[in-house]
Amino acid sequence: ATLLLLHGPNLNLLGSREPQIYGATTLAEINEASQHLCDAAGHQLETLQSNSESVLVERIHLAATSGVNFIVINPAAFTHTSIALRDALAAVAIPFIELHLSNPHARETFRHHSYLSDLARGVICGFGAHSYSLALQAAIHLLDASRL
Ligand code: DQA
Repeated sequence: ATLLLLHGPNLNLLGSREPQIYGATTLAEINEASQHLCDAAGHQLETLQSNSESVLVERIHLAATSGVNFIVINPAAFTHTSIALRDALAAVAIPFIELHLSNPHARETFRHHSYLSDLARGVICGFGAHSYSLALQAAIHLLDASRL
């Protein structure tokens, strides 16, 4: 099957961005580990990071016509603001997992609400870079169970 891993705004700065919250692992390292995980499970992985809401919305649209079976997304700050991302994910109806490095529920109240969580197949947060492996493992488990 084909998985799409989407990274929202400011995640290009991982490694140097507020490391006490987000850790020292870079986005390149996260993508590399994600690639290994998917390779080992016999699945394809596509990745995109963007600071732009429109680029992410259009990548989600493209996913619907390019055979993407599952989306894993860290929407970053768009989690808390973007009805457009929510609508795009609802429109394509591709199952997705929402993930976060930090635990937004343990942080400022403006991070407690997500526009995506109730549409997600599941949500993983609070495990740093390991959140990505956990989310991808869950996605792979679901894909294998549905024989995709
Ligand atoms: C984040 C949490 C968001 O609240 C924040 O805006 C981010 C990163 C996380 O991975 O912990 O940019 O999604």
